[in-house]
Amino acid sequence: MGSDGNLASVRWHRLVTCRLEETERLSPGLGSLSGAFWDRRAERHAASTYVTHTAGDPFLRRLRRATHSSSTAIDVGAGTGRFALPLAAGVKEVTAVDPSAGMLDVLRRDARRLGVRNVTTVRGSWEETSTAVADVVFSAFVLTLVPEARRFLIKLDAAARQHAFLYLGAYSGDAVLDPLWRHFHGAPRAPGPTYLDALVVLRELGIEPEVKVVELINRRRFATLDQAIEHYRDALLLADLPCVRRELEGLLGIWLLGRRGALRSPLRTTPAAIIHWTPRPMSGRSPR
Ligand SMILES: C[S@@+](CC[C@H](N)C(=O)[O-])C[C@H]1O[C@@H](n2cnc3c(N)ncnc32)[C@H](O)[C@@H]1O
Repeated sequence: MGSDGNLASVRWHRLVTCRLEETERLSPGLGSLSGAFWDRRAERHAASTYVTHTAGDPFLRRLRRATHSSSTAIDVGAGTGRFALPLAAGVKEVTAVDPSAGMLDVLRRDARRLGVRNVTTVRGSWEETSTAVADVVFSAFVLTLVPEARRFLIKLDAAARQHAFLYLGAYSGDAVLDPLWRHFHGAPRAPGPTYLDALVVLRELGIEPEVKVVELINRRRFATLDQAIEHYRDALLLADLPCVRRELEGLLGIWLLGRRGALRSPLRTTPAAIIHWTPRPMSGRSPR
C-alpha cells in the first residue's frame, strides 16, 4: 500500500481504522464492528428499516430496473434484508451475504413470514466468503465500515456480470449528531469516509461510475422520549448513567418534533448516493 496508484485506498483505510479506534476507546467492545456488534442491533435495525419502509426507496426502484425474472443478485452486507427480500419477488434468486448471525436470523424469519423462498444466506464478511458471480451485485450502507475498501470493491466488481451498485449516505450522520457529540465529548468525532472518498477509490481501480444523489425520507419515529434517549445515547457512544440520560432528556426534549408516540428528528429527508457501474467483461479486464 502507499504507492501513488492507491493513495485514496490508504486514506480510506486510515479514516475507517481511526474511527473504529475512537469507537473502541469510548465504548470498549464496539470498535471491531464485528458480526457481534450487528447481532445486538438486528431487531432494532429491522424495526427501523422495515421492509415496508423500503417500498418507495429509490435504490430498490433502481435495482428493479436493472433486473428481471431470470436475474440473479448478491446483496453484500444484506443486514435484515430490507433490499434482498423485496427484490426477491422480481428475480430468480438473491444471495444475502453478512457476517452477523443475528441480522441473518431476522432476515430468514422475515423471509418465512413473507413467503420468500428464493433468498439464500451466506454468513461471513464479503472479503472472506466465496460466492458465485451474479448478474447484479449490490451493497447498501456497508462500505464505510470496511477498512480494506479496495479489496472489497475489487471482489464486488469481479462478482458482477452486468451491474454493480453501491448505496451510501451522502450526508454524514455525524453532521446531525455533531453538536451533541461536541457537547458530551468536548471534541469533534473522528471523521469517517464518505461516498466522495469511495468515488476516488473506484477511480483508482479504473472504474468511473454513474452517481445519482437521491433524497430518503426519514421514517424513524420514537414512541417515547426514553426510546429516543436510548437511540441517541447509543449513537453518541455515551455511558449508561442517570446523569447522561437526564442531560439527553433535556436536549432531546427541545430538539425532537412531533407528538408523543411519534417523536422524530427535524430532518425530514437525508441524501444518499446511488453509485452504479457496468463491470467490464472478464476477458477484457486489465488487473485492478
Ligand atoms: C448499516 S447495516 C446495512 C444493512 C443493509 N444493507 C441495509 O441497508 O439495511 C451494515 C451491515 O453490513 C454488515 N457488514 C459489515 N462489514 C461487512 C463486510 N466486511 N462484509 C459484508 N457485510 C458486512 C453488517 O453485519 C451489517 O449487517
